[in-house]
Amino acid sequence: MKRELVVVIDFGGQYNQLVARRVRECNVYCEIYSYKTPLEKIKAMNPKGIILTGGPNSCYEEGAPTCSDELFKMGIPVLGLCYGAQLMQHVLGGKVEKADAREYGKTALISKNNSVLFEGVPTNSTVWMSHFDYISKLAPGFTVTSYTDNCPVASCEDVDNQNYAIQFHPEVLHTEYGKTILSNYVMNVCKCSGDWKMESFVEEQIKLIREKVGNGKVLLGLSGGVDSSVAAVLLSKAVGNQLTCVFVDHGLLRKNEGDEVEAIFGPDGNYELNFIRANAQERYYAKLKGVTEPERKRKIIGEEFIRVFEEEAKKIGTVDFLVQGTIYPDVVESGLGGESAVIKSHHNVGGLPDYVDFKEIIEPLRDLFKDEVRKVGLELGLPEYLVYRQPFPGPGLGIRIIGEVTGEKVKIVQDADAIYREEIAKAGLDKTIGQYFAALTNMRSVGVMGDERTYDYAIALRAVNTIDFMTAEAAQIPYDVLNTVMSRIINEVRGVNRVMYDITSKPPGTIEFE
Ligand code: XMP
Repeated sequence: MKRELVVVIDFGGQYNQLVARRVRECNVYCEIYSYKTPLEKIKAMNPKGIILTGGPNSCYEEGAPTCSDELFKMGIPVLGLCYGAQLMQHVLGGKVEKADAREYGKTALISKNNSVLFEGVPTNSTVWMSHFDYISKLAPGFTVTSYTDNCPVASCEDVDNQNYAIQFHPEVLHTEYGKTILSNYVMNVCKCSGDWKMESFVEEQIKLIREKVGNGKVLLGLSGGVDSSVAAVLLSKAVGNQLTCVFVDHGLLRKNEGDEVEAIFGPDGNYELNFIRANAQERYYAKLKGVTEPERKRKIIGEEFIRVFEEEAKKIGTVDFLVQGTIYPDVVESGLGGESAVIKSHHNVGGLPDYVDFKEIIEPLRDLFKDEVRKVGLELGLPEYLVYRQPFPGPGLGIRIIGEVTGEKVKIVQDADAIYREEIAKAGLDKTIGQYFAALTNMRSVGVMGDERTYDYAIALRAVNTIDFMTAEAAQIPYDVLNTVMSRIINEVRGVNRVMYDITSKPPGTIEFE
């Protein structure tokens, strides 16, 4: 499909995906490419604009990531951010040097409102800075458009050649008018019309899927998570009963989750599709009996998932297409897109394609960020609680029960977790905390209940705030909420006599316990 495109060129900065997301919030489609991508390839995409991101290097050092000056002469507006701004100046004949002090954090900016980028931005505003180097001399043709106390060139531009440089980070929310500045670039400099909308995405995808699938059979592994649920609905709308969804209930889901998934997608649900629920709980518990080592547990859960899925898929016979819920951050992080790649060697349940007989893969969400997948879900009429569901790991409660997994322990952690989630929602905190759950520690200790001595398990409560799940801080839940959760868990969940709140950040802790 033909649509307007802005290209983000990644120099290894931590905010590359954020830049792309912000552009998409302006309803303009945006993709991330490494700075090593040949210029001809970028040119052939016919982008309306090019944004150079930040990066950890100094542009004047030997071997630092760079670009050709041709990039700035193609007649396509270029916006350089942070490292990208410095590189633009460096390549075009300006000077970048190490500053006496690092400028970091919220900083007061004074901008000139005659620059198109600063339209609608007051003369005094707050921006987010993070740099050691600074632009000490402008490249020919540029004028300064803003500055701070410590930074004489917080932004500059050469309007005739459509090159714009910004030292601060408009993509982070700490920059008060960041969205306005990026929108000014995308809409007023690049002259995009804003044709990237989720309504049209849905229509477009349904049409594309129909064309591709024809009369073929389609298989999808449904987990009940946001991505696979949205993919299922999209496919169901496109090809109806040609789609079969296999839902493996491994007995390690949250309380009632299996039934909830079945209520939505099963025979009494709203969608035209074939739904198969494989109840593999007992099989899993048998495999996990006596196993305590976390990686071994993960492996068993992953392998068993493939086996169950494969058995179910075999019953259907040959399928033509297998659907995968890959989303854009997976594409970027697996190194196909940007430069700041392969930080995360995550953790998906299994490598399905090898085991199932199919001709081709369909990845309908491959171009979308998570927030866009959610928008598509709402557009398709999926319930809000499902669309805004927090992340849940493939191995499920198996990695939230420290040590051996048993059916009895699963029940304990499910009940405690359900109480915790209920109270967090009651306190109105469910949309503000990034991820929260209960885990069952492997520790038993002495307590007293009524007049009886107890020797029971300790539940650990976890709640974290995070942008990218790579780093996280423990959320500061009000004490009275924690107190209610503690008292309900002790009273309502048998086998628990202590509740603890985990205040560890990541690093050094991880979000999950195993
Ligand atoms: P950690 O525990 O590594 O988790 O700090 C970071 C994020 O990833 C999720 N997670 C997983 N997701 N399969 C998944 O699909 C897994 O094996 C897995 N392990 C952790 C975790 O819930 C958190 O959101």
